[in-house]
Amino acid sequence: MSARTANSDAPIGVFDSGVGGLTVLRAIRSALPGESTMYLGDTARVPYGTKSRASVVRYSLQASRRLVERGIKMLVVACNTASALALEELEAALTPVPVIGVIEPGARAAVAASENHRHLVLATEATVAQRAYTRAIAELDPNAEIEELGCSLFVALAEEGWTEGSVAEAAAAEYLRPVTARSAAARPDTVILGCTHFPLLTRVIRAELGPGGTIVDSATATARAVERALRSGGLACESGRRGALKLLVTDGAPRFARLGPRFLGELFGSADVELVDL
Ligand code: DGL
Repeated sequence: MSARTANSDAPIGVFDSGVGGLTVLRAIRSALPGESTMYLGDTARVPYGTKSRASVVRYSLQASRRLVERGIKMLVVACNTASALALEELEAALTPVPVIGVIEPGARAAVAASENHRHLVLATEATVAQRAYTRAIAELDPNAEIEELGCSLFVALAEEGWTEGSVAEAAAAEYLRPVTARSAAARPDTVILGCTHFPLLTRVIRAELGPGGTIVDSATATARAVERALRSGGLACESGRRGALKLLVTDGAPRFARLGPRFLGELFGSADVELVDL
């Protein structure tokens, strides 16, 4: 007997500071094709990764409340920075709507993959300052050693489409030097892509680090967490139809439509993007 509730056909809300969270939306749509999704990118105020905690909390609350007003059944905080800085506030403000961030699923996947208990987290400046991944991993594995490196320039490179070639390679070499300067035996065996944009740079990051170890993409781990939460909450959509997709932004629909398909892996145009004022 299914424990489905009246709103199981409602969309899953996915919130991000801008376009990058489409990598998380992509993972959710691929894992859960029958679920409808409503994405809100706060493109008017991106980037969050260089902002203060107070601003990130305020922006995240405003954006998420808008998604709740539009009838979402669950909120996925796709933005690592917002997950690191504002998750508790979002959970408290949105009750009873379930809220899932990307940090805990990413940390869990990293702990499962690691053999030497050493982890490297690549993230924005604000996420690194908050040490949210360090705390989440340490809770799961008290013996873990965790390093976090701020790689904010990767965000701009991913948006510019410079995910391969000399500029991306030089940035990766520079950012990863604290790790690559050490012998292979002294390096972490898991690398967490702790920012929405970084999955697009997986190839250059892998090339710089060399073979071996695991690159953990928080987006994929989060999609699995969403699936579990929908099932356990009786919220899974069972209509059998392909889920609808609604895209909302707070500014610059044409730019979002130009960059977005590379992050989402699906084509869409600016006519498919609705502008909202928070
Ligand atoms: N979405 C942000 C994150 O995952 C990256 C872009 C930003 O700085 O807002 O941390």
